[in-house]
This record gives sequence, structure tokens and C-alpha cells, in this order.
Amino acid sequence: MTDVLDGVRDHYRATGLTERLKTVLAAIGPEDRRLEPRQLEALDQFHTRGLAATTELARLAGITADMSVLDVGSGVGGPARFLAATYGCRVTGVDLSEPFVDAARYLTERTGQSGQVSFQTASALELPFDDEGFDIVLLQHVAMNISDRVRLYREIRRVLKPGGRFAIFDVVLNGGEPYYPVPWARTPATSFLLTAAATREAIEPAGFRALAWQDDSEVAKAWIAQLRASPPPSLNLGVVMGPEFAQLSANLGRNLMEGRLGILTAVFEAVSINT
Ligand SMILES: C[S@@+](CC[C@H](N)C(=O)[O-])C[C@H]1O[C@@H](n2cnc3c(N)ncnc32)[C@H](O)[C@@H]1O
Repeated sequence: MTDVLDGVRDHYRATGLTERLKTVLAAIGPEDRRLEPRQLEALDQFHTRGLAATTELARLAGITADMSVLDVGSGVGGPARFLAATYGCRVTGVDLSEPFVDAARYLTERTGQSGQVSFQTASALELPFDDEGFDIVLLQHVAMNISDRVRLYREIRRVLKPGGRFAIFDVVLNGGEPYYPVPWARTPATSFLLTAAATREAIEPAGFRALAWQDDSEVAKAWIAQLRASPPPSLNLGVVMGPEFAQLSANLGRNLMEGRLGILTAVFEAVSINT
């Protein structure tokens, strides 16, 4: 288990990330000028379809201002900042990668949201929170890095209030083995993809009932086609993952276009295990 977590940490090691962000953001404005969360969307939404996907998932999850939201595998914090800015809710992010958590805190200071949005370094398999503290848990493009899905979904259920909602946005196995490297793994050793059906079979026994279930593979393909037709913006996820990100991203596109991988959006309600 530790070997797997070390492998995943290594994939997202992002040495010197906060310094790199300071350098590229200097082109937008001086360090003491407050940024709008939207100005960061090209580099802080680390998943297929970027901010559009976060916007849709949040709407499906039914977030409101009085809610406390946990973003598991929060990356550099773009989804957390967007949710806080859009809904006025409190958001906590946890991520395995310390450089990502440092970067998330730095970017959140730059957007002036540190009072509303916070980040901690922790594993999704051992969440550092009491039982039943959150109204919503978000998991976007993280499960494919996690081999022990039983423990992952039990842990998420544990920290959710009864009746709370669990919103997922996952890459899933579809019609064959993917080409590697991909944005979440350089080799199959740190990639633990399931089909959409197997994902649901792993989630529901932890104490969840599906409220929304969408195959978003075609929407993702249309997005890939659009990306291929236009040059990438100068700020992009290459700043976070390094120059090879273009190749990782191209492989994701190829896997989706060939139907080897698919995209799943779903929302579950936390129920008691016997209902
Ligand atoms: C593809 S990124 C997605 C980041 C973010 N959810 C987003 O959509 O912008 C995957 C993230 O999951 C984190 N991650 C992977 N395995 C994890 C684990 N066991 N516990 C916590 N975070 C994990 C990685 O460090 C990385 O930040």
C-alpha cells in the first residue's frame, strides 16, 4: 500500500511548483494584486473539460452557501476556490501531494479566499476528520490513482453527514487497455481504473444510493476535438506537471477518442447501510 502511495506521490511530485507559479503569474499582475479564481482556470482545474466539468458537477450536487464541502484529492485547489466563490460555501481540500497543497494555499492567498478555503496534506484512505462533518464530498479524477476502493468509499461515507451527497467525476475503463503515460500515471503501476459499472458496485455497499448517473464520454470527446483544433493557452497544466504534460494529455485524448476510456459523472446520497 505504502509503495503504491509513494508511486502516486512521485507522479505528482511537482518540485518547485509554487515558485514556478509565482513566475508565470507575474505576467498577469504583481504579487500583491488579488486574482479572480477564473483567471487561474487554465492551470488549476486538473481534469477533463476543466472548469465546465466542475461547474456541472457542483450543480448536480446541489451545493448551497450554508454547506461544508470536502474536496478529496484537491490538486492545486481550483475546484475548491471555484465552489467557494460561486456558492459562498466553506471548502476543505485534502491531497497526497505536499507541493500541490503548498501551491493550492499560495493560489488561495492570491485570490483572497484563505478565510473560506483551506488545504491539508493527507491520504484519501485516512481522512484527518471526525465522522459526519461534511454535507458534500467531491472526488474529481482521483479514484483512478487509488487501488483500495472499498476503503476509499468507506472513508468518504464516514466523514459525510447522513443524507449528505458524494459527487464523482471519474475516468473509467471502457473498451480496452489505455495507452500510457496519461495525466494521472506514467505507467499502469499507479493506475487503478474500473469500469463505470464496477465503480458503482464499489460505491453503493459503502452506504450510498445513486441520485444522478451520466456517461459523459461523448461530451469529453467533443472537448478533445475542440482542443485539437486550437492551440493551448500560454497558462496551462504544463506549468504544474512539466513539459511532458502535452504528451500525457494527448494520450488521454487518444484513449477517449478510441473508446478505450470513458468519463463518468455521478452523485450519490449517503444512506444507512441497511436501507
Ligand atoms: C488528476 S489530479 C485532480 C486534482 C483535482 N481533483 C482537480 O480536479 O483539479 C489527481 C489528484 O489526486 C491526488 N491523489 C491521488 N491519490 C490520492 C490519495 N490517495 N489521497 C489523496 N490525494 C490523492 C493527487 O495528488 C492529485 O492532486
